[in-house]
Amino acid sequence: MAPSKEELLVRRIRSGTVIDHIHAGRALSVLRILGITGSEGFRVAIVMNVDSRKLGLKDIVKIEGRRLSDEEVDKIALVAPEATINIVEDYVVVKKHRVKLPEVIENILACVNPTCITRQPREHVKPRFRVVSRRPLRLQCIYCGSFIEEDYVIRQLEVHRGY
Ligand code: CTP
Ligand code: ZN
Repeated sequence: MAPSKEELLVRRIRSGTVIDHIHAGRALSVLRILGITGSEGFRVAIVMNVDSRKLGLKDIVKIEGRRLSDEEVDKIALVAPEATINIVEDYVVVKKHRVKLPEVIENILACVNPTCITRQPREHVKPRFRVVSRRPLRLQCIYCGSFIEEDYVIRQLEVHRGY
């Protein structure tokens, strides 16, 4: 089989997880959601802005030797609703599935409201949002009722906020 354009940049992995069909520019937000900084020791490949039949341009994240929990996979849907998760074993894709946004998003996004109980350090209340709408993305804080939208979510998960 002839290598795809993407494979000319980054080779196929032996075992681990390939997160494919990420919206172009969102690969680093996906890594942030997974808490991967590069210091964990896994081999990670980030491919950005490669051609995709479905999306025009897409990003891909390949993580050698790491599986994702169902919860992690679901959270990826916040920034990459079209993403597919490929489990690779011995160079073969043994499982492929689409991400699916969970009904409640816990402990990953901060509330927009500075007086929300989740923003009072002494209260130790984890932020939790109910998904009100998937597209466009709209979440509601379970504690204070504030709404947050896709732009705010992406901004919070952007590189400069975490790395
Ligand atoms: N991949 C990889 N290493 C492997 C096998 C696959 O890095 N050993 C990557 C491929 O490069 C691709 C993704 O995993 O980015 C999915 O692989 P595959 O299912 O073979 O590709 P497609 O059929 O093109 O996937 P889809 O139908 O989901 O677009
Ligand atoms: Zn709140």
